[in-house]
Amino acid sequence: MIELSQRLHALPGYPLAEIPTLKRRLIEAGVDVIDLGAGDNDAPPPEIAVTAMGEALGDPAYSKYGFQQGLPVFRQAASNWLERRFGLGFDPSTETLPLIGSKEGLSHLPFAVVNPGDATIVPEPGYQAYIGGSILAGAEPYIASLRPEHDFLLDLERVPDAVLRRAKLVFVNYPNNPTAAVATPEYLERTVALCRRHDILLAYDNAYCDLTFDGYRAPSIFEIPGARDVALEFFSLSKSFSMTGWRLGFAVGRPELIGALTRVKSYVDTGPFLAVQKAGAAALDQAEALVVPIREELERRRDAAVTALRAAGFALEPPKAAMYLWIALPKGVPSAAFARRALEDTGVVVLPGSGFGPAGEGFFRIALTVGAERLRLAAARLGQTLGATRRGELAPAG
Ligand SMILES: Cc1ncc(COP(=O)(O)O)c(C=O)c1O
Repeated sequence: MIELSQRLHALPGYPLAEIPTLKRRLIEAGVDVIDLGAGDNDAPPPEIAVTAMGEALGDPAYSKYGFQQGLPVFRQAASNWLERRFGLGFDPSTETLPLIGSKEGLSHLPFAVVNPGDATIVPEPGYQAYIGGSILAGAEPYIASLRPEHDFLLDLERVPDAVLRRAKLVFVNYPNNPTAAVATPEYLERTVALCRRHDILLAYDNAYCDLTFDGYRAPSIFEIPGARDVALEFFSLSKSFSMTGWRLGFAVGRPELIGALTRVKSYVDTGPFLAVQKAGAAALDQAEALVVPIREELERRRDAAVTALRAAGFALEPPKAAMYLWIALPKGVPSAAFARRALEDTGVVVLPGSGFGPAGEGFFRIALTVGAERLRLAAARLGQTLGATRRGELAPAG
């Protein structure tokens, strides 16, 4: 009998884990399933990336190991983009690092900074790679609840002093998954100051920085003075360019911190496929133009979904960014039971808030990954499930 590790047992369930099986069963039964689960947009990747990828596939040089250095052209494109997008200068060879998707870098980061028993501070509800990476590296995650009354901001000033003293790393993510909250400059300043005071590495996850609406502009953490001392920032090509499956992102920060993550990665992977890096460089070079249609379509979808969900009986405000709606359920309605009922009765896949940790209870998430018409239909169906819960017909979460 092979005994599995305590770390493996300590991992919480992954929120998307059981959905594919349920969904397949329903599709086989002829149900019109509307999947608003994963944050995987239906837009195609940019043509310029597809063309660059095709060219690279025809050149055997791109089929070699990339190692951590990767493709200099990609690092340069990342550095140029940071300059254009945020007015920030980062050395392409020592201050940027290609990642096999930002998830990979975020989840490997704890290995570079925590010792057994050290704390990491993770937001809940939050992206599961933070808690997973922390546990796998032997850290003790401290759960910081994101509450609506605090605008879903991870407030380090509310974390007990004893935890701050043991903490090596905090994960901060705005625009936020799953709540779609955004951070104010004052909040970021307070957070950087506190990390500096306690020598806590601030992992700023900016995967959604390009998906912003109503003229809102998402900042880089490095726009905050002093952030370079304590922060690493993570960017992703997945959401900005609809390239989720290509697996490409990058980390940015001062050379010592980038070097530490590079060292960890050199033992577990050999970098993203060079052809993907070539395609990523092509996309980043055209980023400003490429994100416009994605952003505009998401904004249309957001507006359609918010209007239809309100008409269906839900109370929610339109978010300024990301690709999600984080929707409150009536008091006492278990989100897992609601999500299951929505799927089984109406064929709509939503993610229960509890799947993002107990602090997510009372909410569910939809991703704006289908067109406005389908979102309207999904909202009407979710309204039926809401009606069933109001009539007390919802079985407790099983
Ligand atoms: C907050 C957040 N960070 C990072 C990622 C990972 O993105 P990537 O595809 O670059 O690994 C996601 C993906 O959903 C996310 O929601």
